[in-house]
Amino acid sequence: MMMTEERRYKGFPETLLSWYDREARVLPWRSDPVPYKVWVSEMMLQQTRVDTVIPYFLRFIKELPGIPELAAVPEDRLLKLWQGLGYYNRARNLKKAAEIMMEEYQGRMPDTPELLEKLPGIGTYSAGAIASIAFSKPVPAVDGNVLRICLRLEGSREDIGSPATKKWAAGLIRQWIPEDRPGDFNQALMDLGATICLPNGEPLCGNCPVSPYCRARNLDLIREIPVKAEKKKRLQEKKTVLLLEHGNEVAIRRRQEAGLLSGLWEFPNVEGHQTCEECWNYLEKLGITIIDIKALPASRHIFSHREWAMTAWRIQTEKIAGPDDWVWVSREELEKKYSVPTAFRAYRDMR
Ligand code: ADE
Repeated sequence: MMMTEERRYKGFPETLLSWYDREARVLPWRSDPVPYKVWVSEMMLQQTRVDTVIPYFLRFIKELPGIPELAAVPEDRLLKLWQGLGYYNRARNLKKAAEIMMEEYQGRMPDTPELLEKLPGIGTYSAGAIASIAFSKPVPAVDGNVLRICLRLEGSREDIGSPATKKWAAGLIRQWIPEDRPGDFNQALMDLGATICLPNGEPLCGNCPVSPYCRARNLDLIREIPVKAEKKKRLQEKKTVLLLEHGNEVAIRRRQEAGLLSGLWEFPNVEGHQTCEECWNYLEKLGITIIDIKALPASRHIFSHREWAMTAWRIQTEKIAGPDDWVWVSREELEKKYSVPTAFRAYRDMR
């Protein structure tokens, strides 16, 4: 029989926190978690690993020890301090947010996740992290590591990339988060994700303080969770479009009755990107005498499951000729009577 959720996680927060008390990583923004330092660290950690961030953080705080200094720093100096961390908009947003704090918050940081999230560079995750670590608000901070832990604890195969999964995880954490130590609890989850509940290969379940709570572990699903829904790659197809003209007439043919764009009309085309000479030879074999051949601009068309990268040649022919399934029509007829799909728009709408 399934335990109720309340029973199932009984003792979980305490167990995780006592592990954190023993094993927490020693990080410079943890020893003195004033809002400014927590904020700067969270912005640096958004796209960068802890080990890389540490020296940047120390240098940054030394030179810009508070919100007034950050708001006043010249941009080129700020970017120099950031150089090597990448994603420079994070630095620009820090300064912008500091200016807002100077103007609207008497030089202090707002202390609720709602207000924090309105500032440049602060999203739901960062707002939760700052509000819980710096202001002891009992709110979740769900990043990829925390999501993975939640999915494994619950033995869930839901897609780790979906926004619904993130919401679900936030709800789960809200049930656990201790009122007296929300920041430590969130950071305990972060450390567990970074040091034990590792993403690929073998997580270190033998060292995990909360493995008795973990359905993935108990059902031997650790290697299968988290599930990441594959973004299906579109099939990439190269084509060479042949815009054959004789006077005012152009050659078209009907697409086959089944499959993509079935039954519509198209300009003759061949697979791959063909050179001028290859096209010339191909057309000669079809009994077509070429007067002139010129390259047309390439174009691309994206369907739901495939993508065409088209190059094209504009070819003047000596006379109307070609295989039986080609039809030669005037530009006016083409426009009025024949359905040539948008994929060929670049060549269809030419004059
Ligand atoms: N990653 C993002 N924020 C962090 C924090 N406060 N501690 C450890 N890792 C983090």
